[in-house]
Amino acid sequence: MLLIGGGGREHALAWKLKQSRRLGKLWTSGSSNAGLAKLGTPCPIEMNAKDAFRIQRWCDTNDIHLVVIGPEGPLAAGLTDVLQSAKRMVFGPTKAGAQLEADKAFAKQLMRQASIPTAEGRAFTDTESARAFVLARPEDQWVIKASGLAAGKGVIVCETISEALDAIDRMLVQREFGEAGATIIIEEKLQGQEVSVLALVDGRTISILDPCQDHKQRDEGDSGPNTGGMGAYCPTPVVDAPTMRAIEQQILLPVVDALRRDGIEYRGVLYAGLMLTPGGPKVLEFNCRFGDPECQPLMMRLRGDLVEILWATAAGILDQVDFDFDPRVAVCVVMCSAGYPGQYEKGKAITGIEEAEALSGDTGEIVVFHAGTTTNQTGQLVTNGGRVLGVTALADDLHSARDLANAACERIHFEGAFWRRDIGDRVLART
Ligand code: AMP
Ligand code: GLY
Repeated sequence: MLLIGGGGREHALAWKLKQSRRLGKLWTSGSSNAGLAKLGTPCPIEMNAKDAFRIQRWCDTNDIHLVVIGPEGPLAAGLTDVLQSAKRMVFGPTKAGAQLEADKAFAKQLMRQASIPTAEGRAFTDTESARAFVLARPEDQWVIKASGLAAGKGVIVCETISEALDAIDRMLVQREFGEAGATIIIEEKLQGQEVSVLALVDGRTISILDPCQDHKQRDEGDSGPNTGGMGAYCPTPVVDAPTMRAIEQQILLPVVDALRRDGIEYRGVLYAGLMLTPGGPKVLEFNCRFGDPECQPLMMRLRGDLVEILWATAAGILDQVDFDFDPRVAVCVVMCSAGYPGQYEKGKAITGIEEAEALSGDTGEIVVFHAGTTTNQTGQLVTNGGRVLGVTALADDLHSARDLANAACERIHFEGAFWRRDIGDRVLART
């Protein structure tokens, strides 16, 4: 099989795939992630979705039966459409399905038609209409979003009307996010706990995974700039059984049905980013892939054969596989390079991973997933990105898992390393 993508999410997927009796040879997409490199063979060709037919030929020659696409970019570019065939399954939706993430205006429209609860909002391409819309309700707080893919940066949560006007200007006039910001969504700012609910969807059957929460902001106390995710845990107690039923009945199933009515058979991960508001769960966004770092705690807890699970999802026979989750709690703490999410340096030597993993024992298990790492010419493990490692612990409860993950982080060193020690505080503080 071929696993496309080179981040912490893909290292976690590869780690779990390697535990499968059914795995033949694992090819990875040629990224230099040092953790992935230990688990798979780098595919010799460049995974540029623009060159999909070359990838297709390579897959044919190398007898690839299952392709797992980790990131949204190649999904939105339609790599699934090109690679899937009678002999080859692809895990991840087609280009049409990936619009759910890649085109927020499309997603909003679909939610409106299917009466799916979401933040009130409208799409705009015209600057004056967008300005008039927020100026008409100056007391309200707004969130301004680029409709297209912007590497997690295209959302500006505004406190004041002038911030909202500035955000409109940055997207529609200055084109800070390029074509991704040619259409923007202006929506009401919601309050509440934010949760990530991921489901496997095989076209019709859906299988909901345990709920996760991630911390998007860089600094402790959920302050500072937004990042790709500083840490995540699974399960979270904030989603109780009735809320989960509401999420399934009012959100996940209606989306899959609405897509099918549009002729789109969605296969892969359907990730709902939700706000638990006093009026019930509401959708902030959909993603068409596993979350990063949510995937790390999910894989750490998953009990089942991931090759079978992903194959069955892609083949439309999800009802034929069984899996469940370890009852313990997993916490992933992300260790970052100084400067992230802004400019940062690469090439800093990393030490202490073995010492960190040696903390596995009676209190729980530790696995260090690599994200932005590589091996330099002298064979030394070095940093190669903003999010460097996902230090993931599995223990009896959230508190002990978080403590174990933090203790493991203390044993790992690279120049400028920083991480949040308060992952999970949003729920720990409540109990
Ligand atoms: P998104 O990529 O749409 O999930 O947005 C990134 C982050 O912005 C989310 O994880 C939320 O923390 C925040 N956000 C997005 N939409 C809203 C909203 N309508 N109200 C409050 N916060 C939001
Ligand atoms: N952790 C959020 C995301 O993957 O989009």
